[in-house]
Amino acid sequence: MKLLSTTITILSIISSLFRLVLSSIPPSNLHYEALHYLATVPESYRGAPLYNDDNIDGNLYIPQYNTTINNYNTPNERKVPEVVEKFVIPLLEEAAAQGYHKSLIMLADFYTFGNYSVETSYSKALEYYQKAVDIKGDGHAYFMLGYMYSTGMFGEVDVDPAKAHLYYQMGMEHGDNNAILALAYRSLYGIGTPKSCDMSLHYYTRLAHLGKQVFNEKRELGESDDDLMYNIKIVDFNGGLYGNKLSESPASFYSKSKIYSKNKDTFDEYNLDLDDHEYINLYYSGVNYYGGDYFFPKNFTKAFEYIKECVELGEHRYAKFDKNGKKSYKPINSIDVVYLSRCQALLGHMFLEGQGVDQNFDSARTWLHTSLKVQETAEALNDLAFMAEKELGGEQRDVDKVIKRYHRAVELDSPDARLNLAKFLISLSPNQDPTLGEFKKEIYENMGRAVYGGNAEALYYYGDFLQSGLQSMVDPEKIQNCPSTVVYYKIFIERLERVFLPHLKYAFQELIYGNYKNALLGYSIAAEQGLLHAQISAAYLLFQLQPLLDHHPKKTFPQPRLQSAIRYFEMASSQDNVDATLLLGDLFSTGLDNSNISKDYNRAFSYYKKAASQRSSHGAYKLGHMYEYGLGPVNNTVDFFMAKRYYDSSLEFKIASDKRKGVSSNKIPINWALLRLRLKYLFNRDKFKNQTEAQDQSGWFNAFKKISNREENKISSERANAKANAHHEGTAFMEDVEYQEEYDVADYFVIFLTFAFFVVFFVQNVLRQARRMRNNNQANRPNEREGNQEQENPDAPQQEEQQPRNGIVNGFQWNFRRGNAEFHFFAI
Ligand SMILES: *[C@@H]1O[C@H](CO)[C@@H](O)[C@H](O)[C@H]1NC(C)=O
Ligand SMILES: *[C@@H]1O[C@H](CO)[C@@H](O)[C@H](O)[C@H]1NC(C)=O
Ligand SMILES: *[C@@H]1O[C@H](CO)[C@@H](O)[C@H](O)[C@H]1NC(C)=O
Ligand SMILES: *[C@@H]1O[C@H](CO)[C@@H](O)[C@H](O)[C@H]1NC(C)=O
Ligand SMILES: *[C@@H]1O[C@H](CO)[C@@H](O)[C@H](O)[C@H]1NC(C)=O
Ligand SMILES: *[C@@H]1O[C@H](CO)[C@@H](O)[C@H](O)[C@H]1NC(C)=O
Repeated sequence: MKLLSTTITILSIISSLFRLVLSSIPPSNLHYEALHYLATVPESYRGAPLYNDDNIDGNLYIPQYNTTINNYNTPNERKVPEVVEKFVIPLLEEAAAQGYHKSLIMLADFYTFGNYSVETSYSKALEYYQKAVDIKGDGHAYFMLGYMYSTGMFGEVDVDPAKAHLYYQMGMEHGDNNAILALAYRSLYGIGTPKSCDMSLHYYTRLAHLGKQVFNEKRELGESDDDLMYNIKIVDFNGGLYGNKLSESPASFYSKSKIYSKNKDTFDEYNLDLDDHEYINLYYSGVNYYGGDYFFPKNFTKAFEYIKECVELGEHRYAKFDKNGKKSYKPINSIDVVYLSRCQALLGHMFLEGQGVDQNFDSARTWLHTSLKVQETAEALNDLAFMAEKELGGEQRDVDKVIKRYHRAVELDSPDARLNLAKFLISLSPNQDPTLGEFKKEIYENMGRAVYGGNAEALYYYGDFLQSGLQSMVDPEKIQNCPSTVVYYKIFIERLERVFLPHLKYAFQELIYGNYKNALLGYSIAAEQGLLHAQISAAYLLFQLQPLLDHHPKKTFPQPRLQSAIRYFEMASSQDNVDATLLLGDLFSTGLDNSNISKDYNRAFSYYKKAASQRSSHGAYKLGHMYEYGLGPVNNTVDFFMAKRYYDSSLEFKIASDKRKGVSSNKIPINWALLRLRLKYLFNRDKFKNQTEAQDQSGWFNAFKKISNREENKISSERANAKANAHHEGTAFMEDVEYQEEYDVADYFVIFLTFAFFVVFFVQNVLRQARRMRNNNQANRPNEREGNQEQENPDAPQQEEQQPRNGIVNGFQWNFRRGNAEFHFFAI
């Protein structure tokens, strides 16, 4: 006991001495001392991630959020590296206490982002950011304050929209790009500020110019520009918001390595022996390392090794030299040609860019030319043209040659070559102004096609063309306005993730380590800045639909978090994400237990309506349902006509989307709803309002066919066109799956229904028979048995009583019953 207390005393003396010593050191020195310590923390302090390429698909599970600990319930403990806990934090705290603003901001970052596994505390962070900006204005701190007041950190601090906007603006004034991006998005959609496209365009343009500058510098640094995109909907790991089959929004990413392995599988399928085509293996391994993947870091060194091996193998097998030492190739089989030339082109490209090897223009040119000899590829042509244009490796600039090469690459449909060609032509224009020269049209068209080919840099130029008036010169018919220009700039900026959106990568890294709270932080920052996919990811971390059959315990969602989720789903919905719109509709049409979300059919109706207008099958189905039962703004008046229309659209959208995806999915619910409507029509003719004038009252079935026919007429010209095209192209015209199935299938359902009636009767009989048999065994007196039966079933329909009193022979009775059932069948 004594020993313990002495130790404690000594320790406290030491620590107060430490503090005493610290307080005598100037705070800036303390800060740099802390940085010094931080540098000693090893990269690997975190250990292995929770998720990897093999286990994340279909397996991403967001645990219950625990309001006691303000974090998700996760089993993994966070270990703060010792040096951070013992030295870095105390040093920073001391400097912060002395009012050193850099330390204040750094600590605030630690408590917000949870660097080095430090436990987050948003209220503490808010306080530190606030203190820091009180001492000295700082763009990043202002932005973080704006972000915290805007989101309320999902319940941990107070929401204050006015302060949020003010701080974002202060951040912008201090040149913080994050704040500018947030303001650009807010102005575009009128969030916390009046909607103003011009204002938004102003902000986006400012960032776009900055981004373009970065692009130029990057090119000079030889960095690869096809960086990984972390702007993803994490829910796509689970197949989308509604799971694999039912989600209607397209996935936000495809795993590269999975695509490659699929390609390899295809070869296996065609029984190509990969050992005979080692180039394919080497090429794909090289490309895998060259491009990297979310779970698979790029490694240019390794990529270079594979590609070089691929090329050398080709040389060994196919190269031959004539007497003068001139190289040519033996005939190469048609598969090897493709991969060998790709390997050579990539090798040349890596020499050109200095990736995985020292930059060497001579080697680059040699391999690019070689690859052209084996087979022309757009990539090699584009690189060679670029080298000629920039006079790399001592090549003389020859304008005609450059243009010829670019043209050839463009013919092979390379978006990169289109961009380079357009840029080259701009450089040839007077004053480098594309609106002045003779190449206007060619520049404009190539840039446009490069944009649609997915080239990021082209987005900038295209946006610029819209602003500078080039578009209206070349293509006056196309409408040109502020919203269309903003779109190009917005996407351009969102593609430059590494520059403008560092929080996306952070979020993903935190996610795969199972730090859901930090992941949410990262995604929600990007969500505030208007990234659609980040909005869905953030919303998903806040709220998850729970499947009916789920072995996990049922989750609850604290009120502020649910509200934040809805806010993000609404943002995503206004950016036209169908799944988010549907989810909101579902949320408001059913309400949510244990929460403030009560049924609101009007709101649900408008979400479904929006989804249906975007050709969502689910949305149209729900609208039909609401009309059928008179829910929502239809004011309790049932409208079967509208119901039928939306059910029909639902079926049509479903067939169309299935065709697009090449899958077949479950259409039974829709057909069932249509059938249900038919039966209702039997009793409620007046509810088919619009129909009443037109129909000839000669029976429900005819009337229904009329509705269908009428709609068919509307699209009959479309069908005729489709038929004509099919004929023209020599393909088979799909004989109207869409329009015939619509009621043929439903007709089968009528038959199915009657059959179901029959089955019910049949089963009922069998049961009764069994009971009778049992009774028979118990009491062998027929009369008593009948008596029992009548007591059991006093409401038995008429026919039942007509059954033969002495029907002991099973077979006979069954036959009789079937007769009854058939009678029902005809009665319908
Ligand atoms: C929340 O966390 C605390 C501390 O870890 C734990 O005791 C409690 O059971 C958790 N609550 C829920 C609802 O999981
Ligand atoms: C903490 O993490 C954030 C997010 O990744 C990062 O921006 C910041 O620079 C980090 N701070 C330090 C001191 O490492
Ligand atoms: C890339 O691969 C090389 C060679 O295999 C290896 O030495 C290097 O450490 C790797 N780099 C990274 C970042 O993994
Ligand atoms: C529900 O919302 C009302 C006001 O909109 C609020 O007073 C009440 O506390 C909320 N209930 C819960 C459980 O959060
Ligand atoms: C429903 O009723 C309200 C008021 O009773 C009315 O304002 C609204 O227009 C009606 N909606 C429809 C679709 O009839
Ligand atoms: C059906 O009636 C509604 C109003 O009751 C009307 O808005 C709609 O245009 C009508 N549809 C047709 C096809 O006549």
